[in-house]
Amino acid sequence: MSTLLPFRRRPQRAAPDAAAGGARMSDKFISIEGIARRYPAPGGRTSTVFENLWLPVRRGEFVCMIGHSGCGKTTVLNILAGLEAPSEGVVIVDGQAIEGTSLDRAVIFQGHALLPWRTVLGNVAYAVSSRWRGARRAEVEERARRAIATVGLAGSEHKRPSELSGGMKQRVGIARALAIEPKILLMDEPFSALDALTRGTLQDEVRRICIETGQTVFMITHDVDEAIYLADRIVLMTNGPEAKVAEIVENPLPKARARAALHHAPGYYALRNHLMDFLVTRSKTLRDAMPAGYDPRHPPVVRPAPGTSDAEAIVAGTEASAMRA
Ligand SMILES: Nc1ncnc2c1ncn2[C@@H]1O[C@H](COP(=O)(O)OP(=O)(O)O)[C@@H](O)[C@H]1O
Ligand SMILES: [Mg+2]
Repeated sequence: MSTLLPFRRRPQRAAPDAAAGGARMSDKFISIEGIARRYPAPGGRTSTVFENLWLPVRRGEFVCMIGHSGCGKTTVLNILAGLEAPSEGVVIVDGQAIEGTSLDRAVIFQGHALLPWRTVLGNVAYAVSSRWRGARRAEVEERARRAIATVGLAGSEHKRPSELSGGMKQRVGIARALAIEPKILLMDEPFSALDALTRGTLQDEVRRICIETGQTVFMITHDVDEAIYLADRIVLMTNGPEAKVAEIVENPLPKARARAALHHAPGYYALRNHLMDFLVTRSKTLRDAMPAGYDPRHPPVVRPAPGTSDAEAIVAGTEASAMRA
C-alpha cells in the first residue's frame, strides 16, 4: 500500500513475457496447480475434499470463491495462506512456491483474531513491526495510525478490542492486514458475522482500498450479492466431497460500480440468476456428473450477458482464454 510508505516501496516489477503470445507472468500472479486435500477416513479409506484444482489469479484481481458449506473453500484459503499443505499439487505466488505462512499473504478471518490485551494501535503496530523488524517505533506507529485511519477508526487507537463493536473489530483486522502491504489478501467470509449496514460499509471500504492500492484478493463468501459487488471473477465450487471448480464466472459489470445502482447495471440479473441457479441446483448436479469434456485444468469460463437466457450466457471458454481476455 504505497500510500502508507515511509519504509519500502513494493517493487513494481515489469511482467516478463514468457514468450511472444504466451501467458505473461503477471497473468498468473497466483497459480493454484493441481492441488488436492485428503483426510484419512474410517475403515482405512481416504476422504477427498477436492483434487486436481487449478486456478490462476492475475495481479490486482479480486477473486471470490462461492460454494456450499463443506466443499473445501476454507481449506483452499488455508493452503493459500500456508497454514495447511496440500496433499498434492502446488501453489505459486509471484513466481515462488508457497511453503508455510508469510507476511506476504495476509488473512482476514471471520472472527477478527485480535490480541485482547492490546489496543487498536497495539494490534496493528504489532503486525507492522513483525513485517519491518528493526523499524523505529515512531515509524511503526505512524504506519499503523495511517492504516487505522484508512479503515475509518482514527480516534479509536487506544481502545481495546472489548470496547469495540463487531464491525470495528473487523476494521482493525482489515487495517492490520493492509498495514503490512501483503502481496495477496486472503479473506474467509470476513463480513458474514456483521449486521447488514456495517457489512455494506465495510464492503465499500475494502473495495475502495483494494482498487486504490491494486491489491490482489482471494475472498470466500456465501453471499451472492457481495461477490457481484466485489469480484472481478467468481469461482464456483461444486458440492463436496470431491468438489471441483465447476466454472469461473467473469463479472460483466463495469469496474466502476456503485452499490446502490448495482441492480440497474446491464448484466446484473443475468449474473445474479446464474449464481443463484448454480447454488440452488447446479452445484449438486455438477458434483454428480460434470459435462463431457470437462477439463479440471481449464474449467469453463462463463460471462453472463445481458439480454440472454442463462444457457446462452455460457461461453465455451477455458481458463486460458479468460486469462488472455
Ligand atoms: N482435520 C480434518 N479431518 C477430516 N476432515 C476435515 C478436516 N478439516 C476439514 N475437513 C473436511 O474438509 C471439508 C471441507 O472443509 P472446509 O474447507 O472448512 O469447507 P468450507 O469452508 O467450504 O465450508 C469438510 O467436509 C470437512 O469436514
Ligand atoms: Mg469455510
